[in-house]
Amino acid sequence: MDNAQDLREAGLRLTYPPVDGNFPGRNSHERITIQGLDQQVSKLVGEPLVALSPSQAHGKFRIATAGDTGRAKVHVDASHWSGILYLSRPEDCRGGTEFFRHIPTNTERGPYNDQEAQAMGHVSAKQMIADILERDTLDDSKWELTMRVPMRFNRLVLLRPWLWHTAGEAFGDSLQNGRFVYLMFFASARQVAGASSPMPARRPGRPRLPTFRAEPRHVRHLPWPDAGAGRARSAARCRRRHRAPGR
Ligand SMILES: [Fe+2]
Repeated sequence: MDNAQDLREAGLRLTYPPVDGNFPGRNSHERITIQGLDQQVSKLVGEPLVALSPSQAHGKFRIATAGDTGRAKVHVDASHWSGILYLSRPEDCRGGTEFFRHIPTNTERGPYNDQEAQAMGHVSAKQMIADILERDTLDDSKWELTMRVPMRFNRLVLLRPWLWHTAGEAFGDSLQNGRFVYLMFFASARQVAGASSPMPARRPGRPRLPTFRAEPRHVRHLPWPDAGAGRARSAARCRRRHRAPGR
């Protein structure tokens, strides 16, 4: 984004109520709309998307600082595509977003459907995911790191939510110097009948928040796990359209 610094500063002015959440860190209470985001991300991934309903954290910011703890780590998201825009200051950036192979099942993602889960001896896809994550989400010995996307200011990571993944390390001790990101969760527009404006309508009296335009400049396609379950993939098929300076 050309105005990522403005977005960061707008995010810093929001409120971050304390929560007893599953994951380390806190979400902003408010959301900020990025004008044209659905369309830009749809173009990047090659299919029409719409932002997920307000019950998801789409459009919220998240801050995590060193020492924040949670009850979960590795997870999957309830979305069709997820996005994380890194907004920590360049000098603070560490960690990023991490992807894993689940060693006991030799999988890099949750099953796509019940048939796939049943072929691996589970009752259903939902149950397989729940069984794995309830047991192993925090157990580092059960996961092999397959890829880490490094955090860089103004880098957007778009990921398939069924990949086993987690946020990289939290750092800093304040909103200013912590791990600060903008969250996106999308549904497939084809699967959401009649979805036209998933962001909540502004009600009278609610604060008017700025909008931002989405303008991707550098696009890098990272390696992609195969549809076949259980095969760790090498870094083949890494297609690079543009190389961002300094990376
Ligand atoms: Fe996630």
